[in-house]
This record gives sequence, structure tokens and C-alpha cells, in this order.
Amino acid sequence: MQVIRSVNEMQATSIGLRAEGKLIGFVPTMGYLHDGHLSLVEVAKAKADVSVVSIFVNPTQFGVGEDLERYPRDLERDLKLCEDCSVDIVFVPSTEEMYPAGHSTQVEETAVATDLCGVSRPTHFRGVITICVKLFNLCRPDFVVFGQKDAQQAVVIRRMAEDLNFPVEIVVAPTVRDEDGLAMSTRNACLDPRQREDALLLSRSLFAGKSLVDDKGIRNVDRIKSEVTGILTAGRCVRLNYVEVVNRENMETEAEIEPGRSMIVVAAWIDEVRLIDNVML
Ligand code: PAF
Repeated sequence: MQVIRSVNEMQATSIGLRAEGKLIGFVPTMGYLHDGHLSLVEVAKAKADVSVVSIFVNPTQFGVGEDLERYPRDLERDLKLCEDCSVDIVFVPSTEEMYPAGHSTQVEETAVATDLCGVSRPTHFRGVITICVKLFNLCRPDFVVFGQKDAQQAVVIRRMAEDLNFPVEIVVAPTVRDEDGLAMSTRNACLDPRQREDALLLSRSLFAGKSLVDDKGIRNVDRIKSEVTGILTAGRCVRLNYVEVVNRENMETEAEIEPGRSMIVVAAWIDEVRLIDNVML
């Protein structure tokens, strides 16, 4: 496994690989890898000749007062996990490599990114898109694999890739859950046992909403939102951010549920830890 720390070396390597006709599968991450990330790596490996994983806690996607300093990090463990998964290249740039003095360009998507998470985190997607544009230019992937848990991120990135003509396929892989249903997320590591109990209400409420649609045939959006909200807000540590039913293709809110197209999305703070989750209908 090759560990690359410099942007120039990463770009030269990926250009070289492409010149040899190799397909590059890329998984961008902020590290502290869990089985959800590793499932994305498996998808990338299955689709490509060379797998690249980036590990970079991107400061520009954290708002003022968010958890940049508290965000879990363990590079040694991450590298071992990548090695065990037979990743070919791990790209681990420093903040100075990615954002050298004088860096002043940001890339913004102005439709999908403004709603849902974009309301309470107004600068978040600008940071995500900017780093993804840079990573795509450095890693030159044919495929980039994102997780379904971050559904809005995947739609925003697909929009950006199409708008900016990146010759890349955005692949979205299913959410990986713990046995009790909690969607895997690096931020789960910040939860104590009491908070984790309440965090479980995200998936429980989503699956209760899904069951009303799938098993009881309910199509009324307000009925589903009220079911999900009721279950989720029963938690003592829970502060609801949003519950919405959206079109999975463009994240626009649905007037009526359309199975196969609609998705319930939720975001909530469990005390100071903000979690998101979603379920397809
Ligand atoms: O999903 C993430 O971990 C991050 O938003 C990403 C895509 C690696 C960009 O920093």
C-alpha cells in the first residue's frame, strides 16, 4: 500500500495510472474509519483496477462552533484498516498541502445544497464541494463512492460533477448499520451510552415511518413526518433539526409519497453530536 502525502505526487501518480489505462476507484473520507467506510472501499475495489482512499479532516466544511477540534482522528489505525482491506493508495495530505497560504477559491452549488442540512450548516456543502473538486483533480477517479447515509451530500456532489463536467461516475453505496440499527458514522464515537440510546431513535423512527408506508399503504407526508417526529423527540437528549420526505433524486420535498422515489430524511442533535440518517420508501 502506497501512502501519499503530497498533492503533486498524488496528481502525478493518478495521471500516470490513467495513462496506463487503469480505472481508479476513489473513496474520500475524513478518517476514523468504520465498517461503513470499508464497505465503500469494497465497492471501489470491485469497480476499479486501483483503489484510492483519502483521509483528510476538511476544516472548510465545519462551521464556526462545530466539532472540528473534537472530530475523532486515529491515522495509525486508519492506515492499518486500509492495509487490511488491500487498498492500493492512501492519500493523507496535511491542511497546508490542501489549503496553502493564499488559497481563496471556493466552489458552491446553489440549489440542492441550500435546504435540509444546508439550513443549519450554511457553509458546509461549500466546504464539501470545494474539497471534492480538489480531490477529484488530484486523484482523477473514474468512480467515486459515497455512502447513502449522507444522501444530500451524494446528490450535491453528483450535481457538481455534472455541472463542472467531471468525467466521473458517482456511486452511492447502502448505509451500513450496527446490529441495533444505528447508522454507522464517525460521530457515533462521540456518544456516551445514554446518548447512544437516544441516537437509536433516528433509525427506529425512520423504520416506523417506512412501515406505515410499506405495510399500511399510507401516502400522506404529514402523517409520516408526525410519526417519525413523535418517536424521535421522545429522547431526552434529542434536539430535532429536521424530518422531511424528499425525492431521492433531487432532495426536493414531496407533496405526496411515491414509493420507489421518496425517502424520509432526518437530522438531530444528540446533545452536542449532530447525526443524520434516512430510509428509502
Ligand atoms: O463524507 C465525508 O466524510 C466528507 O464530507 C468528505 C466527502 C470526505 C469530504 O470531506
